[in-house]
Amino acid sequence: MSGHFPADNIGDGSTAAHNRDEPTHFALDAASEAEIARHITKYPPGRQASAVLPALYVVQDQMRRQTGSAWIPRVAMDAVAARLEMPPIRVYEVATFYLMFNTSPIGKYHVQVCTTTPCWLRGSDDVVAACRKITGIKGWHETSVDGLFTLSEVECLGACVNAPILQIDNDFYEDMDGGLTEQLLIALKDGQARPAPGSMIGRQTSAPEGGPTTLKLVSE
Ligand code: FES
Repeated sequence: MSGHFPADNIGDGSTAAHNRDEPTHFALDAASEAEIARHITKYPPGRQASAVLPALYVVQDQMRRQTGSAWIPRVAMDAVAARLEMPPIRVYEVATFYLMFNTSPIGKYHVQVCTTTPCWLRGSDDVVAACRKITGIKGWHETSVDGLFTLSEVECLGACVNAPILQIDNDFYEDMDGGLTEQLLIALKDGQARPAPGSMIGRQTSAPEGGPTTLKLVSE
């Protein structure tokens, strides 16, 4: 999945936006250190750079824990480069290519609507309309005035069988429609516990609506 990126977060620090958003220091905390070390063990000795994708996820999650906004400032990319012993530019290239990495601050909840054909055929327009109605966001990759939501349009999330899909942070909400989307976002807005992800119509994993039709237990 390719991405878009605000170049001012990767530039020379001279833009107003960059100066406003970019922290001057980032250090991996103990949880991130342990998690990155775990990922590095998956690769042969000397190939630790192969862990760059999960390492970027780790630092993005650390930013979420520490600031409430899951994004990766350049200093965090530098920390990943140092930890994986690779040139910073190679980390910048990866972080700015993939849509799942945010290179500028986002809201507390990252609301990502899949609008690719299967989700569109199953009603993603209604999901988008509900997102705009509840958050007040008009464009894409914009953040609501209250700072709670950032709304993004994404390509196929690989869960078409349960389309349409609404991803909130790392959770998939499946078999969505406009009403369910409104309920979900209102719950988050009201500070309620995050609703359980998965199929919203009780579908068993990716089985047909109404339940499995093959490979059934003899007793069924
Ligand atoms: S098209 Fe939306 S998950 Fe595949």
